[in-house]
Amino acid sequence: MTIQWFPGHMAKARRQVTEKLKLIDIVYELVDARIPQSSRNPMIDEIIVNKPRIVLLNKTDKADPRMTEEWLRYYREQGVQALAIDAQAGKGMKQIVSLSKEILHEKFERMKAKGIKKPRAIRAMIVGIPNVGKSTLINRLASKKIAKTGDRPGVTQAQQWIKVGSELELLDTPGILWPKFEDQTVGYKLATTGAIKDTIVNMQDICVYALRFLSRYYPVNLKERYGLEEIPEDIVELFDAIAKKRGCIMSGGMVDYDKTAELVLREIRTDKLGMLTFDDPAELSSEE
Ligand code: G4P
Repeated sequence: MTIQWFPGHMAKARRQVTEKLKLIDIVYELVDARIPQSSRNPMIDEIIVNKPRIVLLNKTDKADPRMTEEWLRYYREQGVQALAIDAQAGKGMKQIVSLSKEILHEKFERMKAKGIKKPRAIRAMIVGIPNVGKSTLINRLASKKIAKTGDRPGVTQAQQWIKVGSELELLDTPGILWPKFEDQTVGYKLATTGAIKDTIVNMQDICVYALRFLSRYYPVNLKERYGLEEIPEDIVELFDAIAKKRGCIMSGGMVDYDKTAELVLREIRTDKLGMLTFDDPAELSSEE
């Protein structure tokens, strides 16, 4: 999905999320575990004030497990609740429910103390930038027990709730927010992982970014995938080496850089270079 974000769209998206916040007890902020920082909305803390929140690191099946651990440790140190999940395979779903119950325990105890004998289910909504897996997670949590309480007579049709077991209800539409694309590196990371579609960004530029990143942080993966003895420091030489290994050569023997870039990016996105993470919490700590 490609969304062109203009100031008006951003304001509307923010308004919609703010409206829905009134209906819920807890927010699930979904991010891509390969780029937990770059796949966040830059204003999320401002938008979600005073609501409990769990950061869900999704697509952990594609991310570097060591870095996912680093991220979880970082969030713990920051006092932020976070879980590593894989919405596609359904991993971590039970933890979402149990952690939500734990976080909201006191609130629901207070409701009981006020004489509410059978407290209602916890109400939650998912928010996140496009492509982090919001719909996949909703479908996964809903499994086969989809029951829209809005269908019952006397209940407003405006919002539909999806029942997740007996203890959780999820808004059927997620809050879609924009990424921090004014930062060029963030843009490159979003594009490298496929969150931004290729038509709006230059493939060769993204590939230069990705290859530099891999040369520095994942040199073994890069060497093994493309059968390189050494990784040339010069980026054009690196393109040339990969192009020759993979036959991305035009008639006349010239290297086809577009084809090479396309191939490398496709292989990164489909995990052919292994499980990779492009954001490092250590960089955030040093910024702070
Ligand atoms: P969104 O609602 O936040 O926009 O995201 P959506 O659920 O549509 O998911 C975007 C893509 O990410 C989908 O791939 C989906 O299958 C994939 N995805 C979601 N969660 C996970 C996960 O935990 N692991 C993996 N590996 N993939 C996940 P798609 O339909 O192929 O779309 P696309 O890749 O063509 O964009």
